[in-house]
Amino acid sequence: MIPWRERCEEALGAQTRADAIRFWGASRGSRPIFDYRFEHTLAVVKIAKWLAPLAGADPETVECAAWLHDCRKVLNDPRARDHHAQEASDAVAGILADTDFPPGKIPAVRHAIEHHVGLKLTRRLEPVETACLWDADKLSKLGAASLVHYNCISGAFDAVETSGILARGQHWLGLAQGIAGSMNTEAGRAEALRRLAFLEAYYEQLRREWSDPMEPSTP
Ligand SMILES: [Fe+2]
Ligand SMILES: [Fe+2]
Repeated sequence: MIPWRERCEEALGAQTRADAIRFWGASRGSRPIFDYRFEHTLAVVKIAKWLAPLAGADPETVECAAWLHDCRKVLNDPRARDHHAQEASDAVAGILADTDFPPGKIPAVRHAIEHHVGLKLTRRLEPVETACLWDADKLSKLGAASLVHYNCISGAFDAVETSGILARGQHWLGLAQGIAGSMNTEAGRAEALRRLAFLEAYYEQLRREWSDPMEPSTP
């Protein structure tokens, strides 16, 4: 029996590494310049491990769903929005075969993965494991690590300029408010508001620094 976390990390890493190199090449050695999908997934896993016990969810189900939720998403795929959740869900049983993951929990993992997409919700998700994955995935798009990830991936899509990063960040703040308002869990909502406040302060500071001449600070 292979430990399930090991299998998840290995299966995900093989897919994301190959996809990142296909999309924007390798750095020195054979590593991708930035393995965005793997780094994003690590962030979701860390949040999921923190959130599941606070929300009363089964920790193994939420963590496993976090590892595999984007395992079939590829960079710059126009179909990704519609298909990657179902395709990841369809891959779950195969990836976990011959591991020590409890087979009885696989349907809950798949349900969570199938419902993790979208930046806004009109109703709370159920059960709580599905709610936790949505919250963890969306929290990963707010806060300090999200800035690292966003700024590192930006160059893969287009030439990067500070003014462009600022403009896109200011636009993102509007969407981020919607994310914070859609959180399913109490702990997720409180963390979203903390992260949103940090992002707002960051982009406000960047706007001030990038004004010409630089704006004086407010007392
Ligand atoms: Fe996703
Ligand atoms: Fe994700």
